[in-house]
Amino acid sequence: MSYLLDIGSAFSLHSRESGLVFTPGLSSSAAVIPVCRPENLGDSGFCRAHNLKYAYVGGSMANGISSTGLAEALGGAGMLGFYGAAGQPLEEVEKAIDRLQSGKALNYGFNLIHSPSDSELETALADLYLRRGVKLIEASAFINLTLPLVRFRTAGIRRNAAGEIETPNRVIGKVSRTEVATRFFSPPEDKFLKELVSSRDLTPEQAELAAAIPVADDVTAEADSGGHTDNRPLVNLLPTMIALRDRIQAARAYPSGLRVGAGGGIATPEAAAAAFMMGAAYIVTGSVNQACVESGTSDIVRKLLAGAEQADVAMAAAADMFEMGVKVQILKRGTMFAMRSNKLYEYYRAYNSFEELPGETRAALERDYFRASFEEIWRGTREYFMRKDPAKAGRADKDPKFKMALVFRWYLSQSSRWPLAGDESRKLDYQIWCGPAMGAFNEWVKGSFLEQPEARDAVTVAHNLLAGAAALTRLHALRCQGVSADSRLARQEPQTREQLSRFFR
Ligand SMILES: Cc1cc2nc3c(=O)[nH]c(=O)nc-3n(C[C@H](O)[C@H](O)[C@H](O)COP(=O)(O)O)c2cc1C
Repeated sequence: MSYLLDIGSAFSLHSRESGLVFTPGLSSSAAVIPVCRPENLGDSGFCRAHNLKYAYVGGSMANGISSTGLAEALGGAGMLGFYGAAGQPLEEVEKAIDRLQSGKALNYGFNLIHSPSDSELETALADLYLRRGVKLIEASAFINLTLPLVRFRTAGIRRNAAGEIETPNRVIGKVSRTEVATRFFSPPEDKFLKELVSSRDLTPEQAELAAAIPVADDVTAEADSGGHTDNRPLVNLLPTMIALRDRIQAARAYPSGLRVGAGGGIATPEAAAAAFMMGAAYIVTGSVNQACVESGTSDIVRKLLAGAEQADVAMAAAADMFEMGVKVQILKRGTMFAMRSNKLYEYYRAYNSFEELPGETRAALERDYFRASFEEIWRGTREYFMRKDPAKAGRADKDPKFKMALVFRWYLSQSSRWPLAGDESRKLDYQIWCGPAMGAFNEWVKGSFLEQPEARDAVTVAHNLLAGAAALTRLHALRCQGVSADSRLARQEPQTREQLSRFFR
């Protein structure tokens, strides 16, 4: 038998209690509305492990786009935010540590991004985190795991009075491939543990304990997202990662278990509800947080993001792994960056030096992309590398193709700084990392107060996603009992923080 749940019925999906649906003319209840509060979504073990109220994470966004302000806002509201350390000078990262350690956020973390072309940077960042007592990192862009990562994870490992292994430092790995997830869910490789014993970072007893724990208890399955992405669909990726987790846990029987979170494409209540229903221990958002007032970008970018539709994104050549042909997902609308960066990669593939390029192309690059001569840009780039990595400058002096790559990479890295500074003269060259989640969010909030970029703050957005996901989960439970609800009930109208306050006590 099927009942129609009317939009005008007294029943509210936004309730913190369970309830019954009654149908006119029938004395017995038609269906049970199970309780589902925002804090019930996801894995309570994840919340306990990281001292959170909600299984909601704001992912790292490079160049401080996920700012200390963003991490404080989420952390202060029982969620978790990562500071975007990638691309930031170490002094800036240390300033962010100062602020977060002295501030109001109970929970926060920092990004440790794998830097294949700059392993010293990765080592220096891990050292900084260890020296300053940072306890939680989001480890991303790894293919093989590295010594600095293992050193961070295993530092201070001990057995407590109850005989359990305790690790003061926690790692949330972020991956889009199962091989990498396997590495995170496995104990550190023996070669690293031996190295850490010989460098006296670990005692032999600690190394033995470290051989029994996973590098990460939590791994985020990252689907089609802003920035670096394999463009995988979350509906395919998440079940695969969960199945992998189950196999590894069955084989290793870690006492605390392993958890899989979901990121990439989540910016609507529907997407959040679906991820939790598919078994995500927690959700990770990115693109939508960049559009919020706390992010470390400019108002011009926030405005551009607010105008994005779902198809307004494209893959563009990445600065950090340019020669390898790696791409990042960016906002296409309103800029020419996707086309320009991909052209640079094509030229790099086809020619062995800048001088080999056709004269017209060289002139166009100098006029439109560099706004300076190739040699001028090279002089500045060379000076930079002489200070930072003289071996690279020396190599480029001898290898004209490498020199061309470094100059092209200058353009690619500046293009992600111009939008942060709000440099209007470079608007066409803005490299704004962004996924299709942004368009989905804009579509959802159309006509509501959240349409305005100034009204978007990270906690209001997160509360709406979680409250909406909880309501949709209740609605789904009703449908499973044969209640066919008015389709308008499924629409989760964005609400202000005050309107939602009874839900987030
Ligand atoms: C502007 C921007 C910068 C990002 N930078 C990083 C980064 O430096 N390190 C990282 O691990 N992930 C980075 N990401 C990925 C996010 O942390 C998050 O995993 C992802 O954005 C989630 O997918 P979504 O964009 O669909 O919400 C970035 C994403 C964006 C949008």
